[in-house]
Amino acid sequence: MRSCCRAWCRLVAAGAVLALLAATMQNPAAPPKGEQEQSVKPGINERWKSDDIAPLVQTLEDEGREIYSQRERIAALVGPRRGSVMADVGAGSGFMSELFAGLVGSAGKVYAVDINAGLMERLAKDATDRGITNIETVVCGERSVDLPANSIDLVFICDTYHHFEYPKSTMHSIYEALKPGGQVVVVDFYRIAGVSPEWIMGHVRAGEEVFTQEIEDAGFELINQHYPAYLPQNYVLRFRKVSDH
Ligand SMILES: C[S@@+](CC[C@H](N)C(=O)[O-])C[C@H]1O[C@@H](n2cnc3c(N)ncnc32)[C@H](O)[C@@H]1O
Repeated sequence: MRSCCRAWCRLVAAGAVLALLAATMQNPAAPPKGEQEQSVKPGINERWKSDDIAPLVQTLEDEGREIYSQRERIAALVGPRRGSVMADVGAGSGFMSELFAGLVGSAGKVYAVDINAGLMERLAKDATDRGITNIETVVCGERSVDLPANSIDLVFICDTYHHFEYPKSTMHSIYEALKPGGQVVVVDFYRIAGVSPEWIMGHVRAGEEVFTQEIEDAGFELINQHYPAYLPQNYVLRFRKVSDH
C-alpha cells in the first residue's frame, strides 16, 4: 500500500515538472513572473495607439501649443552637431525630427521613434515628399526604443517622458543605444501642486525632480537645466550618459 502511494506521488510530481517545462517552451523568452517592470501610468497611451492619426496630428501641430509654435527655438536650443546621429523618441507627427534632419545635415541622421505605426508611416511619406533623406522611422515597443546599440549621439524626448509606461526599461534601452558620452534632452511639463492646471496634475504623473532622479538612476548625469521664457509650460533638461553605470 505504502509503495503504491509513493509511486502515485512520483507520478504527480513528474506531471507537474512536465507541465512547467511545456509552459516554459511555449514562450522561452518570457522572463520569470514578477521580473517585468509594471506600468507606472496604465492607459496613458490609449489615445496615442489609435489608427485614426488625424486628430493626433491636429493636437500636436496646433499653433496654440508652445512646443509647436516655438519649435525652431527648441531645435536651436537642443543644438545637434552637423553630421551627428539623433533619435527623436516619441516623435509624434515628426515636425521636430524634420527640423533636426536639417540641422544634422546630409552627413547626419535622425531616427524618428514612436509606438504609433500610423504616425511613423505618415512621417516617412512626408519626409519623402519634402526630399528629406536622412530620417529613418522606427516603430518601437513600449519598453524599448529598439535602436542599434552604441549608435546615437543625442536623444530628444519631448512631452513624451511622462508617456513612458515603463520608464526604467525604456531609459535602459536609451542608455544602451547611446554612444559613450551621448546626451539626452528632455522637455516636459512643469507639474507644481497649487500652480499647474488640474489636467496637468492628473495627466503628468510627476514633476521635474522625480523625473530627474529617475533619469539619473538610469545612468545619466544632469548637465544643465533651461527654463526659457518662451516656454512657460515646459522645462528643458540635458543629461549625459555616465559610462561606468
Ligand atoms: C504628447 S506626444 C508628443 C509628440 C512629440 N514629441 C511632440 O512633442 O510633438 C507623445 C508621443 O509619445 C509616443 N509614445 C508614448 N510612449 C512611448 C514609448 N514608450 N516609446 C516611444 N514613443 C512613445 C506617443 O505615441 C506620442 O506620439
